[in-house]
Amino acid sequence: MTHLSPVFCAIDTPDAIKAISLASKLKGRVGGLKFGLEYVMANGPQGVIPFRGLDMPIFLDVKLHDIPNTVAGAITSLLPVEPDYITIHTSGGAAMMKAAVDAASRAKGKHPKLLGVTVLTSLDSTDLKQVGQDTDTAAQVERLALLAKESGLDGIVCSPAEVANLRKVLGPDMILMVPGIRPTWAAANDQKRVMTPREAMGAGATYLVIGRPITGAEDPASAADRVTQEIFA
Ligand code: C5P
Repeated sequence: MTHLSPVFCAIDTPDAIKAISLASKLKGRVGGLKFGLEYVMANGPQGVIPFRGLDMPIFLDVKLHDIPNTVAGAITSLLPVEPDYITIHTSGGAAMMKAAVDAASRAKGKHPKLLGVTVLTSLDSTDLKQVGQDTDTAAQVERLALLAKESGLDGIVCSPAEVANLRKVLGPDMILMVPGIRPTWAAANDQKRVMTPREAMGAGATYLVIGRPITGAEDPASAADRVTQEIFA
């Protein structure tokens, strides 16, 4: 029996030729493709258009954060490339998130789903104190995730450490897109608190983001297949 993979492969390269070659190998092997700022800054949002021919969901991880009118405009500008998912920073506030939701809802074709970024996992409690955030990190993540839900976002990007609690707090319908995933056989690289794909799905993840264990493998297609087998074993 074949299963639909919940994995979005992170295409972290500025090189469009390498990216399309990699993505072509992954067609049917992963559930979607994630493009971050590295790719989008080098190629523009229209740099994802060639990937639409692969018929895989496209996740634009551009982490928008600005005044509501500007974020709404940015979402509107992204609509022609028909992304399936777009990230915005929840710390931009409820008005910003609602403006983004409103802009996404005006799409003529496909409506992109909006995912919220809460507290960047690169920040520890010292970093957060430096920028005036004295609250406990887990409490701040929860607060921002709830605000995102109230503001109409479709889901949250969260770390493996946060997924079980956010699933409990947000209920079954919010999408939880989870990076920081390492199959049992892969190196952790610079990811500090990792979970295996199976653990993260068991904790309540909807989708997983996996980059280097697949993109850095000698044979990315079979690495992707191994991840799927590990999830559904
Ligand atoms: O190669 P690796 O599997 O670590 O890639 C994970 C992807 O998820 C990268 O694109 C990275 O920027 C992103 N990400 C992350 N941790 C977060 C948020 C996003 O690793 N907290």
